[in-house]
Amino acid sequence: MAIIIKSAEQIEGIRKSSRLAAETLKYLEEFIKPGIKTIELDKLADDFLQKHGAVAATKGYKGYKHATCISPNDVVCHGVPNEYSLRFGDIVNIDVTAIVNGYYGDTCRMYEVGEVNDYAKKLMKVTNECLHLAMKECYPGNYLGNIGYAINEHAVKHGYSVVYEFCGHGVGLKFHEDPQVEHKAKKNSGPLLREGMTFTIEPMINAGKPKCKVDRKDGWTARTIDGKLSAQYEHTILITKNGFEALTDINGDY
Ligand code: MF3
Ligand code: CO
Ligand code: CO
Repeated sequence: MAIIIKSAEQIEGIRKSSRLAAETLKYLEEFIKPGIKTIELDKLADDFLQKHGAVAATKGYKGYKHATCISPNDVVCHGVPNEYSLRFGDIVNIDVTAIVNGYYGDTCRMYEVGEVNDYAKKLMKVTNECLHLAMKECYPGNYLGNIGYAINEHAVKHGYSVVYEFCGHGVGLKFHEDPQVEHKAKKNSGPLLREGMTFTIEPMINAGKPKCKVDRKDGWTARTIDGKLSAQYEHTILITKNGFEALTDINGDY
């Protein structure tokens, strides 16, 4: 499979789905409180997407049944929404992919439940910085591998580790396209970035060891093997003539 260069029309479509995915995460903000169940948050996201004429890409994807992945604390990613009630002091990731008119936009972010300790705050901050440093590597002619190189350098500098079992991915016309975007990579490795590419960067950074284990019961929820915290942020990125646009960054964080 090859990396798809998107046309102007396709980019407009991906822009819309990306915006709606980001708006879904913003909508959920006010509901993140101690006591709410992750399955309730998933329902809110699902209803919001439907109300806006979108479909959640995860529903029916390889047998996955939910509109979001909700990953608290030591859950690295693919947390299956369930009866777990968020607790004061939790950190939690919500990941959503919206399909609008056949185009895909994919994003995730962390939320704080009540007051969070400094240890958790720092992990989230550094993970977000990893994503932003990776975005700086996004311009035509640069190596894709420099994204993962930048992420790993920053994470390791702070004593954290980069999850290597899950990657970012091309996105837009399908949920997961080429290329695989590794979050730990060699400098100046991989294909060159070109205008019109759209892909996600979604580093998962662990406070302890990088390795994950998938829940045997639900077959999806991936946790850190040492039970330590994990954080993740994800944007859908478009490579432009001179650099990039973060299509899911509706707050202009970057
Ligand atoms: N949205 C996730 C990603 O960033 C993929 C979730 S697939 C699922 O690639 F099936 F676990 F939902
Ligand atoms: Co993704
Ligand atoms: Co995602």
